[in-house]
Amino acid sequence: MASLSFPRHGDKRNSSQFEDYLGSLLNERDRIGLTDLIRQIDALMITVEPSHSVAYVAELCLMTPYHYLVTLESESHYTHILRIDMNAPDILVREVKDPNVRGIFRSLNEVYPIGAVKPNSRYMGEVLRVTDPHAVVELQKARDIRFFNQEQIRKLELPGNMAIVKPSPYTHNIVAYWERPEDGYRVYALGWSSIREDMQSSYENAKLVQEKLGIDKLLLPIDHLATRIYSQNREAAILEYLTLSSYYYWGSYDITDQNSSTNVTKSVHFDNELECPAKVFTAANHPYFMNHLLTESPTEAFVRNFGPRLHHIAVAVRDGETPDADNRPQTNIDYVVRSLRGCGRKFLLDVIGSKEEGLRQIFSNASEYSSLIIEYVQRFGDFQGFFTKDNVAELTQAAGVEESLLALQEAARS
Ligand SMILES: [Fe+2]
Repeated sequence: MASLSFPRHGDKRNSSQFEDYLGSLLNERDRIGLTDLIRQIDALMITVEPSHSVAYVAELCLMTPYHYLVTLESESHYTHILRIDMNAPDILVREVKDPNVRGIFRSLNEVYPIGAVKPNSRYMGEVLRVTDPHAVVELQKARDIRFFNQEQIRKLELPGNMAIVKPSPYTHNIVAYWERPEDGYRVYALGWSSIREDMQSSYENAKLVQEKLGIDKLLLPIDHLATRIYSQNREAAILEYLTLSSYYYWGSYDITDQNSSTNVTKSVHFDNELECPAKVFTAANHPYFMNHLLTESPTEAFVRNFGPRLHHIAVAVRDGETPDADNRPQTNIDYVVRSLRGCGRKFLLDVIGSKEEGLRQIFSNASEYSSLIIEYVQRFGDFQGFFTKDNVAELTQAAGVEESLLALQEAARS
């Protein structure tokens, strides 16, 4: 697999050093076999505050195609497994039992003014399926990648059948590697497993609502995951992710009027994002201390308040139209958003984009449990792109004026 053979998109210029590093990193990754050894994203890990997981799982089961499968109970955590099928990644929602438990993921939140308000709530990272974990760990260690040791993994109460890389200095996310036969089930080696009654009933409730609204057949798996990082870390974060995964660099768009850029990486093995989501990195074009001389950036403000972290999970919406109650045809994404609004879900803006431009998109409000936004994206026909520049500018702007963010920002300033 030649990681450099994919066409380049976008208009954002990178430094010449970035282009040099990109070439040598990907060639070397292919040469030593890592590109082949590392396969798809098999699971995403999210942590929430004590007692929040039932509500968060219910929210995810209403807003996405995920189903509640089982709960793994360990000494100080509950870890709930959500699944669509074996073609799309699982979501692990983890809740710490005791609010006083301290650990590295909590520390990553505590140094940021808004991140500290919900110290246990953050996206943690991805589990990547590999065909030979021992070889991958040895090759990665030789490239200076640092791993948690077995004792640390046991203390963190993360699944014992994974090799876990320490949080990235650029994104604060982790990557874990595990082995699973391509046709085998995903089994997490952690604690005691049971189907919790409260989870099961709120999950069934959410699915009933989804069905009643008629959106259950319209929601597809995750399209992309978007991480926000400091402006100066843009190139390093992209290259680091390519070092840790078998992704390639798709390209970057400059969103000049929001002082931001959107940088896309994709799996070399899976052309279809719904089988292996794209990873997107968003960064301001200049650091915050230049704002008074140039322009403000909602992206840099977010990172200063929350810390570098995942900002949104984009869920794909099936292409097509669905008639509304008055029998007027609506694009599926409009139908989904109108239905969810009708049962109280809030969005940061109206659906933007058009069939002519290739896609329509929207951001939900940030979840009060995970602080994560759900993006819905519908692509029309055979449109392959991720964004239109106008859409991204509008979405970025909307996320910057999110009410809860503004209120918290105000509190953080005082
Ligand atoms: Fe997005």
